[in-house]
Amino acid sequence: MSTRTDSGSHRAIVVRSAHDGAVAAIEQREAPQAGLGELVLDVQHSSVNFKDALAMSGRPGVLRSHPMVPGIDAVGTVVNSDDPHWPSGQTVILNGAGIGERADGGLAERVVVPADSAVRLPSGWSTRSAAAVGTAGFTAALSVLALRRDVSADAGDVLVTGAAGGVGSFAIRLLSSLGYRVVASTGRPDDQGDRLRELGAADVIHRGELSDSGGKPMQKARWAGAVDSVGSTTLVSVLAQTSYGGVVTACGLAQGPDLPGTVLPFILRGVSLLGINSVDAPHEKRAEAWQLIADTLDEAAVTSIAPQTIGLEEAIGLAPDVLAGKVAGRVVVDVAR
Ligand SMILES: NC(=O)c1ccc[n+]([C@@H]2O[C@H](COP(=O)([O-])OP(=O)(O)OC[C@H]3O[C@@H](n4cnc5c(N)ncnc54)[C@H](OP(=O)(O)O)[C@@H]3O)[C@@H](O)[C@H]2O)c1
Repeated sequence: MSTRTDSGSHRAIVVRSAHDGAVAAIEQREAPQAGLGELVLDVQHSSVNFKDALAMSGRPGVLRSHPMVPGIDAVGTVVNSDDPHWPSGQTVILNGAGIGERADGGLAERVVVPADSAVRLPSGWSTRSAAAVGTAGFTAALSVLALRRDVSADAGDVLVTGAAGGVGSFAIRLLSSLGYRVVASTGRPDDQGDRLRELGAADVIHRGELSDSGGKPMQKARWAGAVDSVGSTTLVSVLAQTSYGGVVTACGLAQGPDLPGTVLPFILRGVSLLGINSVDAPHEKRAEAWQLIADTLDEAAVTSIAPQTIGLEEAIGLAPDVLAGKVAGRVVVDVAR
């Protein structure tokens, strides 16, 4: 239940140490102060990303110092601003930009964010829907923008790996809405196949076809392009199966950070591998990605990817399931709950 006060005292999830295990707890925090170029937000909704689950479980590599509030997404209203671009009461979206990593994050009732990374809530959108899209949908949109520069919708099949995850689910929906024929790769075809087809996948394959494909450096060309959030041997197989001039975007390491392949797809088929980083994306890219999201996704699609809303306390409890790959799609956090 919310204990937000006018003076800014508010509830937050706080991670006090970097030890594997239960290190996150709800605490009452003092009002945060905005510096130059920063905004204070009254957060309405956040979400639980893979990174947030790592942070709440005390895993190293996400939170740069302790104690810190996790949460790489925040959607909320600007408080006490004299910045004409961001007046008080304006509702904004913040994905990444260091919150929940280098500075306190969005799993709190209040957060300080860099103004130049804020994006206005699209007209007609709810704060819940924007948080449901969150970093996963934003990263999927950045990936789709990168891919569509060189791969048109009629170029052939486009593969999405990690399909049942947040990035994968949004990538399927965005690509299929733009007219691409999407093939979804998942480890859960029995559980998740129908959901992925409803999102727009024309075909669903088992991820083992890619992760255990024998490691041949060049394989039969199957994909005009791909959105990968998995890395490791999966990404190596995707590159080896991409057609001449195809584009593969890489944003994640759900299988692993290694890339045990060869340069042959690049030099024999002119395949391009494009890295996607949502955290440090400049403002123009943020605005372009959110425009694509607003133009392409509707509330029903967003809700189907993120049907569940939980409170701050429950977010802590969900972290192990996210890390164990037991959660499909995205989970929204109502920070006042
Ligand atoms: N670069 C960036 O800016 C950025 C932004 C957002 C996320 N990311 C990264 O992108 C990745 C996906 O994020 P997310 O939010 O979509 O996470 P998520 O919701 O947890 O989904 C990850 C998906 O990856 C697949 N997967 C998990 N373990 C795997 C394994 N061992 N082998 C093959 N596939 C596996 C699973 O899909 P199936 O169940 O369908 O097999 C899982 O649902 C993470 O590594 C995350 O850190 C990066």
